[in-house]
Amino acid sequence: MTSRTAEESRPSVVINGERFRIFLDRQTIERRVRDLGEAISRDYEGRRPIFIGVLNGAFIFLADLMRHVSIDCEVDFIKLSSYGAERISSGRVTELKRIDAHIEGRDVIVVEDIVDSGLSMAFIMELLETHHPASIATAVMLHKPDALKTEVKLDYVGFHIENRFVLGYGLDYAQNGRHLADLYILDEDG
Ligand code: IMP
Ligand code: MG
Repeated sequence: MTSRTAEESRPSVVINGERFRIFLDRQTIERRVRDLGEAISRDYEGRRPIFIGVLNGAFIFLADLMRHVSIDCEVDFIKLSSYGAERISSGRVTELKRIDAHIEGRDVIVVEDIVDSGLSMAFIMELLETHHPASIATAVMLHKPDALKTEVKLDYVGFHIENRFVLGYGLDYAQNGRHLADLYILDEDG
C-alpha cells in the first residue's frame, strides 16, 4: 500500500469512467476553509453553536471547518436521500437520518458540501425550524448560483462556481471520488 497523504495534486482523474480535471487545489481550499472558520469564531463569540453536518458529502468540509473554529461548539449530523448514481438532481428529498441533538433555543449552523438546486438546503431549513432553534445559519463549501431553483439563506460560502459537475473533497460521483483532497470538475471534452 502506498501513502496517500504524501500524494501530489493530480491534474486530472478518471472516476467511474469519466475524466475530471483539477478545479480547486487543496491549498486553495484550506485557505478558504480557514477564513470561514475564523469568521464563524468571530460571529459566534460568547455563544456555543451546534454544527449540523449533512451526510455524506459534508463530512470532510465539516471536519476541516471545525478545526478552524476557536470557540466552544458541538456537532451532529443529518442525512438526506441522495442523487443515486445520477449527476442530475432528482429534486426529491427525504430524511434518512434524523439529528440526535436537542436544538430548541440553540444556535444552529447547517454545514453542506454544495448548494446546487437548493432543494436539499430548503428542506433541511424547514425541518430544523420545526425544532425552534434560536438561530439557523448555513455554511456551504460550494454554491452554483446558476443551478438554484429555490431561495436559500447562505451565510458562509466557500466558493461560487459555475454550473458544472464537481467531485472530490467529500463530493462524489456515484459514491466514488469523495477521498480526493482536491476538487475536480467534469471535463466536457473527455
Ligand atoms: P441540491 O438539493 O440540488 O442543492 O443538491 C444538494 C446535494 O446534491 C449536495 O449535497 C450534493 O450531495 C449533491 N450535489 C450537487 N451538485 C453536485 C456536484 O456537482 N457534485 C457532487 N454532488 C453534487
Ligand atoms: Mg450532500
